[in-house]
Amino acid sequence: MLTLLLIVSALTIATIQGESITSFEAGTGFSSCVGYCYQSVYINASMVITGKSSKTNLTDYPEIHEAYPFASSQFNELVELVGSIQRWKKVDTPIGCPDCYNQGAEWIYIDTEDQSIYGVQFEANSTIVGFETLVESLRALRQTFIH
Ligand SMILES: *[C@@H]1O[C@H](CO)[C@@H](O)[C@H](O)[C@H]1NC(C)=O
Ligand SMILES: *[C@@H]1O[C@H](CO)[C@@H](O)[C@H](O)[C@H]1NC(C)=O
Ligand SMILES: *[C@@H]1O[C@H](CO)[C@@H](O)[C@H](O)[C@H]1NC(C)=O
Repeated sequence: MLTLLLIVSALTIATIQGESITSFEAGTGFSSCVGYCYQSVYINASMVITGKSSKTNLTDYPEIHEAYPFASSQFNELVELVGSIQRWKKVDTPIGCPDCYNQGAEWIYIDTEDQSIYGVQFEANSTIVGFETLVESLRALRQTFIH
């Protein structure tokens, strides 16, 4: 009986480990704009890497990346906001019609240890029902780190 319990709990832990969140990417983009119209942050348990790019004018707006340290405690807070990765993977994407009327798109990608990145795209300044605080926190981090 004890052996069985140990096997069961070992399996449970293995599953949870495979689903552990390793990084986030959150960005926004506008197709009809001039300049750095695509801005994103990659966040893992030790750093933030910002990205700025233009899809139309690479000569005047070459892609820029900047790296900053990030506290693992702050990363863990983001992980807690996701709660269950299974619940995240059930979100239908895209939500609405991102950037269809030049009003911009936002996206959040979550990467796990099993390397199945799951991304949700939504209309800029809108939210993802059930993940409102995550959306707001990642948006605030984008504004903090992208200059
Ligand atoms: C975060 O990403 C950077 C760049 O890819 C990498 O060097 C670093 O090891 C990563 N940190 C963790 C905790 O995964
Ligand atoms: C690229 O950007 C510069 C500066 O904003 C602008 O003068 C130029 O016309 C742009 N080129 C194209 C192909 O959009
Ligand atoms: C929508 O989001 C964009 C990019 O984050 C921002 O520049 C703009 O001010 C926002 N619009 C509103 C109405 O909040």
